[in-house]
Amino acid sequence: MSALSGQVAIVTGAGRGIGRAVAGALAREGAAVALAARTRAELAAVAAEIREAGGGALALPTDVTQDAAVEALVEQTLGELGRLDILVTAAGVASFGPVMGAKPTDWDPMLTVNLRSVMVCCRAALVPMVRQRQGTIVNIASVAASRAVPGAAAYSATKAGVVAFSRVLAEELRGEGVRVGVLLPGAVATPLWDTIPNAPDRTRMLTPDDVARAALLMVTLPPGAALEALTLLPAGGIL
Ligand SMILES: NC(=O)c1ccc[n+]([C@@H]2O[C@H](COP(=O)([O-])OP(=O)(O)OC[C@H]3O[C@@H](n4cnc5c(N)ncnc54)[C@H](OP(=O)(O)O)[C@@H]3O)[C@@H](O)[C@H]2O)c1
Repeated sequence: MSALSGQVAIVTGAGRGIGRAVAGALAREGAAVALAARTRAELAAVAAEIREAGGGALALPTDVTQDAAVEALVEQTLGELGRLDILVTAAGVASFGPVMGAKPTDWDPMLTVNLRSVMVCCRAALVPMVRQRQGTIVNIASVAASRAVPGAAAYSATKAGVVAFSRVLAEELRGEGVRVGVLLPGAVATPLWDTIPNAPDRTRMLTPDDVARAALLMVTLPPGAALEALTLLPAGGIL
């Protein structure tokens, strides 16, 4: 029997990059995975890939910035798959530039997707998890939460917010049977870098599969143990 047989997961940002790799890894361990992101074609491709490999997947197009859509995502997952054991929040956006000259509105998409929607997703998912007295939440932050990278002030602020939020939520849910962990990867070779000018060398970054492996570790630990924060760095590469 695989480590996650009988379990059900929601992965946001599952259409590409880290979320896609996490969804595949969870499915390979036997979890049925609800895939959430906005781009339907990407979700359909990931769902097909998982099913062809013998896993279970449900594509649920969702904009995580819409609170009602997130509630519907959890309801549909419970309706179709029966329970909810794992939430991985990998939906995220990034744009960079110096604070001098930045417009306050430049911050809004990152604050909304990277921080506010993490709270909204966790809040919706923890209801069935607390009811079951079983669940693991993994929020994807970044080493940018704690390392000063010029040009990344807004992005870093959202990721530091995710770390702080996750640690408080972990304490609130201690004793409820629900673990909350935050994963802080260094640079990962994903499509996120496609629109970033002068992006660093991708051969020196982590791969999405590296991050998926760390997420898998966090969700497959025995119930009595919780990895609350895990920093994953490219050995010898760039941060
Ligand atoms: N790449 C890195 O170097 C790196 C390092 C550390 C941490 N991270 C973090 O890891 C997470 C995933 O990053 P990635 O590199 O995999 O990015 P990516 O390749 O650009 O993928 C981002 C995913 O998030 C989804 N998404 C964005 N806005 C959304 C919204 N409003 N509603 C639902 N889904 C949304 C995207 O799908 P749609 O656009 O179709 O909605 C896509 O599936 C992010 O939080 C990122 O900050 C990345």
